[in-house]
Amino acid sequence: MTDDADARRADALVFFGATGDLASKKIIPALQSMVNRGRLDLPVVGVGRRPAEEFRAKVKASVEAHGGIDPVAFARLGERLKYVRGDYNDAGTSKAIRRELDGARRPAYYLAIPPSQFPVVVEQLSCTGCAEGARVIIEKPFGRDLASARELNRTLLGTFGERSIYRIDHYLGKTAVHNLLFFRFANALLEPLWNRNTVESVQVTMAESFGVQGRGGFYEEAGAIRDVVENHLFQVITNLAMEPPVRTDSESIRDEKVKFLKAVLPLKPSDVVRGQFRGYRSEKGVAADSKVETYAAVKLEVDSWRWKGVPFYIRAGKCLPVTSTEVVVRLRRPPTMYEDSRLATNYCRLRISPDMAIAIGVNVLDPTGEAGSAPTEMVATHRAGPEEMDAYERLLGDALSGDPTLFAREDYVEEAWRIADPILDQAEPPREYEPGTWGPQDRNVTPPGGWQDPIVARP
Ligand code: BG6
Repeated sequence: MTDDADARRADALVFFGATGDLASKKIIPALQSMVNRGRLDLPVVGVGRRPAEEFRAKVKASVEAHGGIDPVAFARLGERLKYVRGDYNDAGTSKAIRRELDGARRPAYYLAIPPSQFPVVVEQLSCTGCAEGARVIIEKPFGRDLASARELNRTLLGTFGERSIYRIDHYLGKTAVHNLLFFRFANALLEPLWNRNTVESVQVTMAESFGVQGRGGFYEEAGAIRDVVENHLFQVITNLAMEPPVRTDSESIRDEKVKFLKAVLPLKPSDVVRGQFRGYRSEKGVAADSKVETYAAVKLEVDSWRWKGVPFYIRAGKCLPVTSTEVVVRLRRPPTMYEDSRLATNYCRLRISPDMAIAIGVNVLDPTGEAGSAPTEMVATHRAGPEEMDAYERLLGDALSGDPTLFAREDYVEEAWRIADPILDQAEPPREYEPGTWGPQDRNVTPPGGWQDPIVARP
């Protein structure tokens, strides 16, 4: 490792919310995997309000439930894991953390806590001197609209420099999302096609066959647009549509992402369809007259040299027929001499989950000679094995090594909210849909040729 890389590397990790849901489901299992791969060689301090014994029990239960215990790695993790119990607004908690850090000069603070508590923790870290030389890792949502995102950025930037703020959108840690960029720019194949001359439309579907899974209270504050469209799915279309960066350093890549979003026009209410699955209002924590959407479809207009006139559609919903995230880029019809009504539009299908796939939809001559054309797909698929890094492990490792490429920058976050802001908190109630169906339909927000529903094989 070079001196420069050493200087960027954190020398301790502190995670707030150590007995919370995110720590259990994602952070602690990621820590065990990092130890296993030899990627976690620093002190780790959990901070929470619950007693230390409860924390220890949670650590074990969390790893058992998510991936299983690796005896060697788990024992090593136990050796480096410390715990501080305390209130986040108590200066004594920051002082106790400092003692545990034992002279660390570049600690990373991971705020795995509700956003309403960010200012309190940041203030405490700042006034107790803990923020010096430190970096902060925070979870989405980065605000709930443009104004609150700016406010949150102001709070964070009051204590940390932008290069020390790591905003996690876990979609960016997924191999398949990263691969959208890689596949585009590591091959000569797509670039000549990837523009308004050949592409007719782009559609992204993020379907989940389950409901809000006991998170009704959280979901009431979010809804599908805030929960996944404005962040995860905007990141997906950004990777699909941005220009090639001029260099591969983090800022050159992030500059291009922001440039793409700048070309996207703000959404209008007529560009959106909102739905709510029947039964949502009876979920725990949900208002009986809730207007929160559990499904949203939007049509985006991109005013750029490459994309002008190519509509980008996104739909996302809970209680849809399958669980899958997929992109379909449809190409314009060729000026063909073949009149066959079975000629299908060419497309490129990029599946992000549950498995990874790249498929090209083409027309070939029906070998039986009876039907003329036989629309067919050339497919490459890949199912992740246990040896592959999960999104949280990748992102946590990058934040600790000081690589901000896969994190949302301040200007990106604000551009994303600028686009979504006009359609948030609409007075009109969403349209009801039956669980297990594809949500409400609307001609204005349907891609030419219709939505292409992801097909998921039954296990
Ligand atoms: C989260 C949302 O950010 O992403 C959830 O809050 C959603 O509502 C989840 O289910 C989807 O992530 P993944 O990785 O399971 O596709």
